[in-house]
Amino acid sequence: MASMWWKEAVIYQIYPRSFQDTNADGVGDLEGIRRRLPYLKSLGVDAVWLSPFYKSPMRDFGYDVSDYCDVDPIFGTLEDFDLLLSEAHALGLKVLIDLVPNHTSSDHPWFLESRRDRSSPKRAWYVWADPAPDGGPPNNWQSFFGGPAWTLDEGSGQYYLHQFLPEQPDLNWRNPEVRKAIHEVMRFWLRRGVDGFRVDTLWLLAEDLLLRDEPGNPDWRPGMWDRGRHLHIHMEDQPETYAYVREMRFVLDEFSEPGRERVMVGEIYLPFPQLVRYSQAGCHLPFNFHLIFRGLPDWRAENLARIVEEYESLLTPWDWPNWVLGNHDQPRLASRLGEAQARVAAMLLFTLRGTPTWYYGDEIGLPNGEIPPEKVQDPAALRQKGRRGEHGLPPGRDPVRTPMPWDTSPYAGFSSVEPWLPLNPDWKTRNVAEMEKDPRSMLHLVRRLIALRKDQELLYGAYRTHRAEAGVYAYHRGEGWLVALNLTGKERGLELPKGGQVALSTHLDREEKVEGRLLLRPDEGVVVRLG
Ligand code: NOJ
Repeated sequence: MASMWWKEAVIYQIYPRSFQDTNADGVGDLEGIRRRLPYLKSLGVDAVWLSPFYKSPMRDFGYDVSDYCDVDPIFGTLEDFDLLLSEAHALGLKVLIDLVPNHTSSDHPWFLESRRDRSSPKRAWYVWADPAPDGGPPNNWQSFFGGPAWTLDEGSGQYYLHQFLPEQPDLNWRNPEVRKAIHEVMRFWLRRGVDGFRVDTLWLLAEDLLLRDEPGNPDWRPGMWDRGRHLHIHMEDQPETYAYVREMRFVLDEFSEPGRERVMVGEIYLPFPQLVRYSQAGCHLPFNFHLIFRGLPDWRAENLARIVEEYESLLTPWDWPNWVLGNHDQPRLASRLGEAQARVAAMLLFTLRGTPTWYYGDEIGLPNGEIPPEKVQDPAALRQKGRRGEHGLPPGRDPVRTPMPWDTSPYAGFSSVEPWLPLNPDWKTRNVAEMEKDPRSMLHLVRRLIALRKDQELLYGAYRTHRAEAGVYAYHRGEGWLVALNLTGKERGLELPKGGQVALSTHLDREEKVEGRLLLRPDEGVVVRLG
């Protein structure tokens, strides 16, 4: 197996608004990330993925881009970005940036031009359609953020499509000019030296050409989000998308060299059989969210084994797996499992076969923040108050975007003024500096796991489930490693296939030789070096 950096890397996701503020506006910035590079290095991660920092009116906090080739003043300047990139590279860290190709901001000059009138040369850069006979939207499509996916443009009498906010009009990916323009955006950043992109909503790029209605979802109930009213066979995962992925891959390959591949990570919320097709189309790492929406809610050994085996069985030798437990759209890991099992989940993530992506703050067990109603900022939450979301984008993402607590100084060392979102209430004890002091903290566990994962057999060794007693999820990696995770708060045990040595326990307090029956304490995960 050829060794490629992105197979061996741990990717760390930073939400720039919330990592480190340096210009006293309560919002994080690129200079803040630069200053925190030594922390990332000390964690042992190999690559960072930065959520968007482009020019934006911030209706969806940067996922509404008004200039793809500039930095929003809130975050700094292009020079700040260049400095961040060169310092990251000097430290041996790769930098992936967020590419948002499905939609622009409604303030983007392309859209302003497109909506000017029906004969605009950029009209076909977006998805325009005539009203239904009753004057309403062209079809029944619903947006992720509540309400129809269509908004009427009074001036021209046509509707435009937006899978998200009305201020995020969808680009028309069937139009080759649009694809070319996005490829140029990619080249702009690749020339600056970025190591690749996390591509936003990759599975939504194309919609049904005939704009057919979506079929109803029999499981939808009042109180659930609007998007869930239908099954999505026309708005998502259209076959054309694979060709678009292939084209983007070619652009990345123009800039790739051995050891310096430029990489595409794709945001894709799909079942495994559909997901792996994106890898076969050329996306290096199509995000596998199955632990997030199937694993964490049903945290049992049989369920986890089913998920991992299903995925492993669908991958060809040319595909490479990846795993993730959280991101800026999903509830925090520690809030889903509690801290004790969050540590076990970290052991799982870093010992499975495949590239792990880690969300900032999860290494200190940051739980969901508490956001008083008057401080809510997330447009998804504001538009869908009280609704229940689904695996994709649940309403209410502010709680998982709270500022990183660094130390016990005012505002947790994040900022010198009140941050844009409140700090978590326990920031005085749960912060990086305090966790550094405690040798058994989750922070130290994550660091140890990342270091352990550098072992070639843990990186590349085959995965095989090891049948164990109820409550224990165990698996082999290659011939030399056995991972045993006690998913319960009670003592459990496991028959070892042969003797070995504990390389790491989630409790960070033992490294003894073991054979016969391995005892697992409550909430303990153990990595054993066999033989
Ligand atoms: C997915 C992103 O992860 C999310 O944060 C954003 O709101 C939507 N795409 C729209 O870009």
